[in-house]
Amino acid sequence: MIVVGTADYTERIPNNVDLADDRRLQRALESWQPKFHTWWAEMGPELPTEDVYLRTAVNVGRDGWAHFDHVVVNEYRWGIFLADRKDDRSIAFGEHKGEPAWQKVPGEYRSDLQRLIVVQGDTEPASVEQQRRLGYTAPSLYDLRNLFQVNVEEGRHLWAMVYLLHAYFGREGREEAEALLQRNSGSEDSPRILGAFNEETPDWLSFFMFTYFTDRDGKYQLGTLKESGFDPLSRTCEFMLKEESHHMFVGTTGIDRVVERTAQLMVEHDTDDAGPHGGFPLQVIQKYLNFHYSVSLDLFGGETSTNVANYYSAGLKGRWAEERRRDDHRLTDDGAWVDAVDEDGHLTQVEVLALTALNTDLRREYIADCETGVKRWNRILESAGLPHRLYLPHRAFNRKVGVFAGVNVAPDGQVLSEEEWERGKNAWLPTDANKAHVSSLMRPVYERGKIASWLAPPRNGINGKPFDYEYVHLT
Ligand SMILES: [Fe+2]
Ligand SMILES: [Fe+2]
Repeated sequence: MIVVGTADYTERIPNNVDLADDRRLQRALESWQPKFHTWWAEMGPELPTEDVYLRTAVNVGRDGWAHFDHVVVNEYRWGIFLADRKDDRSIAFGEHKGEPAWQKVPGEYRSDLQRLIVVQGDTEPASVEQQRRLGYTAPSLYDLRNLFQVNVEEGRHLWAMVYLLHAYFGREGREEAEALLQRNSGSEDSPRILGAFNEETPDWLSFFMFTYFTDRDGKYQLGTLKESGFDPLSRTCEFMLKEESHHMFVGTTGIDRVVERTAQLMVEHDTDDAGPHGGFPLQVIQKYLNFHYSVSLDLFGGETSTNVANYYSAGLKGRWAEERRRDDHRLTDDGAWVDAVDEDGHLTQVEVLALTALNTDLRREYIADCETGVKRWNRILESAGLPHRLYLPHRAFNRKVGVFAGVNVAPDGQVLSEEEWERGKNAWLPTDANKAHVSSLMRPVYERGKIASWLAPPRNGINGKPFDYEYVHLT
């Protein structure tokens, strides 16, 4: 029997939670497993492959938690891995600050915790569903491999949440675990819970924007759950964040390479429009950025929320980098400024109780992180000798959730009349013609070492392999 550290990799469900010692739980998860496989076969990646060079989580330790090999995608070993337990961990915030972290679900917080886990869990399979057809138009084998990597890990994240539901929430938890496979992205009757996860990811420009902006929302949500007083949830999210950083990498470097290629074409052909030369026009990249950034901002919810205040006080969900904050971690006496729209429709700020402003706090952290991407992409434009720059639109632009939902705002923050918005929106958001052009460039490149016209190759391959490595064997 191969035992890697404490992780048991020979079990039907690889895990580091001693699943074999809990027969009931093991049986429950083993009966969920075939349903997961059916869902994967029906809703997972459509492109048939022989095998793909993938990373599989095999442990959580410092010296290597991942194993790379060519594997049959449908036989990927989805496992359950929690970060190591810290024996003396205490709750870092809220009313229970300083108390030992909970190893069981406190009865009074049961339904709130279950809800938080279900909402997080719902996003994981949703993104797999959104991306299932992208394999048909992969710009290179390297990118195809990355797509599959993101997909199998989102599948593992579903496993992570389902484990918590099964292990800690009894019959209701098991029912919720079933429901996670029954809702589907974009479905009329049973859609995914959050709006952005019902949007299609129809092309690779959208995929890179999604992994940059929307997956990054996931990173911040996981960051708040990692602080949770409910220790198993905290440890689960801590490990998920490790995998998540590769998803961020796919988005960040994906947009890097799109911008790099567009800049190359602009310089080479001495033009502002890379479109006729097989690239994406810079304005189209900006429009896709505007769209994905604004729908991702909506995922953080309204500016104020009493639910989230209650989650915080109860110790269920903390702030980003809670322990680095220099305040009392209870926030009962503090104020905070949040966005508002005054009676005349002007954008303004109002002071509220800090506890109710936690959505704003998290969104602010996220926005600062997004700025770093824009800086990178602008450095690429700059070093190509181009004067053009990308930017993040104003946070009030194109919002459907929160106080900005009721106002029309241009990317520069100017409030517009309905008429002005209608006149301007085609310049700011992807039009049907833009989408058709992007889609016309989506032709698969499955030859080793080759790449699509609209994308620059990566600086490095995966796990020390070269770019022209056979990352995927197609059938
Ligand atoms: Fe995820
Ligand atoms: Fe992700």
